[in-house]
Amino acid sequence: MTARSGRPLVGRVRVPGDKSISHRALILGALAVGATRISGLLEGEDVLNTAKAVQALGARVEHVGAGAWQVDGVGVAGLAEPAGRLDFGNSATGCRLVMGAVAGCPIAVTFDGDASLRKRPMRRVLDPLAQIGAHVTQVAEGGRLPITLAGARDPMPILYRTPVPSAQIKSAVLLAGLAAPGTTTVIETEASRDHTELMLAHFGADVKSEPEGAHGRKISLVGQPELVPKTIAVPADPSSAAFPMVAALLVPGSDILLADVMTNPLRTGLITTLREMGAVIVAEEVRHDGGEAMAGLRVRCSALRGVEVPPQRAPAMIDEYPILAVAAAFADGTTVMRGLQELRVKESDRLAATADMLRINGVEVEISGDDLAVRGRGRAKGGGFVATHMDHRIAMAALVLGLAADNPVRVDDAAFIATSFPGFADLMRGLGGDLE
Ligand code: S3P
Repeated sequence: MTARSGRPLVGRVRVPGDKSISHRALILGALAVGATRISGLLEGEDVLNTAKAVQALGARVEHVGAGAWQVDGVGVAGLAEPAGRLDFGNSATGCRLVMGAVAGCPIAVTFDGDASLRKRPMRRVLDPLAQIGAHVTQVAEGGRLPITLAGARDPMPILYRTPVPSAQIKSAVLLAGLAAPGTTTVIETEASRDHTELMLAHFGADVKSEPEGAHGRKISLVGQPELVPKTIAVPADPSSAAFPMVAALLVPGSDILLADVMTNPLRTGLITTLREMGAVIVAEEVRHDGGEAMAGLRVRCSALRGVEVPPQRAPAMIDEYPILAVAAAFADGTTVMRGLQELRVKESDRLAATADMLRINGVEVEISGDDLAVRGRGRAKGGGFVATHMDHRIAMAALVLGLAADNPVRVDDAAFIATSFPGFADLMRGLGGDLE
C-alpha cells in the first residue's frame, strides 16, 4: 500500500471498537453463567481468534449483527478441554489472557500463533500461572509457542509482583485467580491499563484497586465469584484513533472529529504528549458506560514542538510510540521518548522497526539504550519502502507518515492492519487521505 500527501483530512469518523475491551468482553462472557450481549465488538482478526478460542473452550458465541455478539458462558472454572490447539494468530493479548483463564481449570490446552507470536516471550505469564498450580507440559525453546498448559486442579490464590508493567500479565493472573479460593493480589510498580479490573467489577466480582508507591497499583480479587452476565458497549479504540488523530495534526488544513473514543486515563498518554507538543485536541461529549469513559475528540492541524516523554508514561501509551515518532518527525525540535524496553517484545521489535521506518524516509533518529530520539524538522522527505515485520502499527504509522511527507511512502505488507483496524484504508480515504 502507498500513501501520498494531498487534500486536508476533514469529517467525522468512528474508529472500530477497543481491542483490549473486546478480548476481555469475550473472555469474561465465557466465564459468566448466562448471556452476555456485546455491541461494537472489534471484528479484527485478533479478537475473532479469541472468539473462536472461547467457543472451542465450551462457551456459545453467536454473531448476531454488525459488531453485535452474544456469549453464553460456562461459569468460573467451567472451561472444557478443546478438541484441537487454539490458534491466536498475531495476538499476544488473546493468547496470554486465555492462558490465565485456562490456568484455573483442570484441562490441558495447546496454544499457538503466527510467526510473530511464536517469537514473543510467554514465561512472563507461565511463571505466575505455575505458582497458581498450572503446569506446562510442552513448550518451544525459550519459553515460546506452541505451548501446552495443564490448568490447576486446585488453584491457589497468590500475591504476585509483576516484573514488568504489563496489563497482560496482570490480567492473566487475575483471570486464573477467579478460580482460586481466597484473595489473589497483583502488585504493579507502574499502573497498566485496568480494563480487566473494571470489567470484573462490572460483572459483579469483588475486586479492589489501591495506589501502591509513586506510580503503582495493588489489585486484590476475591476468588470463586459468580460472574453475572452484562451488556457491554465497546467504545472506539484510542490506539486506533491515534492514526487519524496524528494524520489530522500533520496534514495542513485538517479538522476531524473522532467519535466515542475511550478516554480511560491509563490509555491517554499519547493525547497528553501531543498536547504538550502543541496539538489542538478538544474533548467533546464526555460520557461513561460500563465503567469506562469516552468522548468525541476534535483534532485540528497544529504546529508541534519536540518534547521529552518520561518513562513513567510508557504504560499509558505503550502501543502509540510508532505514531508518536511520526508526529515527532514533523515537530520543531527533538523529541526524546524514554524507557521503551517493552517495545522490543511487541508484534515486532518496535523500537528498531520505528527507527528504521523513519530513517528510510529521511528522518534523523537515534536509539540509545531504551530511549528513542527523533529530530523534528517540521517536514519529512518520505519516499521510503517500509518493512512492516508483521506489525499492524508499523504499517499504519508509515502510511500516516506518507500522508504528510514530501514524497509517497510505501509499505511492504498492509494485510496485518486487519488484526486491529479493519477498514483503516477506507476510513482514511473517507477523510480525504490518498491511500492505494
Ligand atoms: C494489552 C496490553 C499491552 C498492549 C497490548 C494490549 C491488553 O501489552 O501492548 O496491545 O489488552 O492488555 P502489555 O500489557 O504486555 O504491555
